[in-house]
Amino acid sequence: RQLRSQVACRGDIETWNASFLAIYESLIPAEEEKAKQKQLLTLLERVVCKEWPEARLFLYGSCANSFGFPKSDLDVCLTIDDAEINKSDVLLRLADMLQSENLQNVQALTRARVPIVKLMDPTTGISCDICVNNVLAVVNTKLLRDYAQIDTRLRQLAFLVKHWAKSRGVNETYQGTLSSYAYVLMCIHFLQHRRPAILPCLQGMKPTYSITVDDVDCSYFDQVENLLGFGSHNREGIAQLVWGFFNYWAYRHDYANDVISVRTGTILSKRAKDWTRRIGNDRHLICIEDPFEISHDLGRVVDKRSIRVLREEFERAAEIIQHDPNPCVKLFEPY
Ligand code: GTP
Ligand code: MG
Repeated sequence: RQLRSQVACRGDIETWNASFLAIYESLIPAEEEKAKQKQLLTLLERVVCKEWPEARLFLYGSCANSFGFPKSDLDVCLTIDDAEINKSDVLLRLADMLQSENLQNVQALTRARVPIVKLMDPTTGISCDICVNNVLAVVNTKLLRDYAQIDTRLRQLAFLVKHWAKSRGVNETYQGTLSSYAYVLMCIHFLQHRRPAILPCLQGMKPTYSITVDDVDCSYFDQVENLLGFGSHNREGIAQLVWGFFNYWAYRHDYANDVISVRTGTILSKRAKDWTRRIGNDRHLICIEDPFEISHDLGRVVDKRSIRVLREEFERAAEIIQHDPNPCVKLFEPY
């Protein structure tokens, strides 16, 4: 509403909506990419089933959550239903087998936080990371994909926010800024909180999907085809939502006390989660609860320096949308 009254004096909000939508459309991967991914996955499945006939491969991350940019890497999870397996042994054996296929740069990184095999497929040009039994990532990928189907404004907003974060250099967890996964959760939470709400809270509804992974209960309502009109009472366009998103993170979020929680569709208190002080390297300077691993704060990578960078970037974005006559250009200017 504030943006509208602003815009009424300065131009046409429809023009801004059109500009944001044009940027969004330019970020959507082409259909051929899906076919190439499928081709590589089929090759991997053929190799894997020679050694582990019971194993399965799942895609996760941006190649499967519907928030992927063109030319994203393929994130693959190999699941083997055997508690006895040693992940490093599996990855080393897998790397060995992939070496003898027509694949390049095959490397097993067994000491990484999430151990993987990396490779590049020269036929499709796709780079790929394969991890073992990281089932929670597969399930949270499904949750994000299900949310994306309810209202197209989530995909629009998240693409624009990811594009902004990549352009401004604040999508680098190794530098203390946030992962793409964290930004998508921030967008979902924001749309759960519009009035009228644009997204429901799927984990607060009667579950139609249920799985327990590493003792974590992952159940939620996944029949999203029944929720397609959910946000239709809210007529806000993308320009309004981009403005609202940055305005929230620049000026409205209470960094000292609040935790955003997609799981509950509410704001929780840092005190209730015992996230008020630094423990080890987790400082909790911006708190984003993982929807399934609820002791896991996706903001834990943010430190004293990078919280300043992040908040300044949120403020810069909010100011540009508020005052710049052509915000779509300046917002995404490389840093
Ligand atoms: P881009 O590669 O930046 O386009 O996005 P992405 O969707 O692949 O996101 P990202 O690389 O941040 O994460 C990959 C997947 O890892 C996510 O979709 C989650 O399924 C999973 N994941 C689970 N926990 C975490 C976490 O703490 N940090 C990150 N980064 N990913 C997590
Ligand atoms: Mg990724």
